[in-house]
Amino acid sequence: MTIKAVVFDAYGTLYDTQSVATVTDEAFPGYGEMITQIWRLKQLEYTWHRSLMRRYEDFSVITRDALVYTLRALGLKYDTRVLERIMDKYVHLDLYPDARQVLADLKDYKLAILSNGSTDMLAALVRNTGLDKVLHATISIDSKRVFKPSPEAYSLVEARLGIAPAEVIFVSSNPWDAIGAKAVGFNSAWIERVTPEAMAESSRNSDLIPPLTMFKALRMQMDELGLAPDYRVHGLSAFAKRLLSGPVQTSPAPT
Ligand code: LAC
Repeated sequence: MTIKAVVFDAYGTLYDTQSVATVTDEAFPGYGEMITQIWRLKQLEYTWHRSLMRRYEDFSVITRDALVYTLRALGLKYDTRVLERIMDKYVHLDLYPDARQVLADLKDYKLAILSNGSTDMLAALVRNTGLDKVLHATISIDSKRVFKPSPEAYSLVEARLGIAPAEVIFVSSNPWDAIGAKAVGFNSAWIERVTPEAMAESSRNSDLIPPLTMFKALRMQMDELGLAPDYRVHGLSAFAKRLLSGPVQTSPAPT
């Protein structure tokens, strides 16, 4: 099957969510990394909780709620100004260093984002980083009022691009997202930024697992959800190289 479109996850895949650490550490010196990790863990959790509870709130609300939770959990005092300053980074996140080049290299495909982000926050982020000029579409799951990995969220790709899942490769560094896409018939690539070898190295000989290592163990290792992505590559550049080098070798998702 020919691939016609490459659809990327946004947060953690094209955009580095860890880049909030600069503002979190500026606001709460010494706590930057801890806040960053708990914030992201809770943010994702709340998308799943709210989807299951059928009490949808968009991702900007969820992101703010998760930040409030984090600061409260750590016993940190904050006011609206600090909250706003940290939140603002979410519409100015850093792109991974190779993201721009990869999008340029893949320009012959239809390029899009499918993200749990709200329409407004994604539009601002994409505009602030200039990706609006290279992406064919930035798709928020907002209209479905349910978050990935719900099949309904992924169905927006075909609805918006008019391209069937079998002709799309979905790219995510979030293991559950790469699997969620695979489960509904997309070709899927997982960006494995942290190898098990690197994990073993960073947790060896340490009684105190640093928050980033814990985050990597919880959110950056392949999940046990009964499916595997078609590609497992160590970065966006490696993904582009692999895609451009020949047809995608896929295995059908078990039904
Ligand atoms: C997204 C988050 C889940 O962009 O990474 O959809």
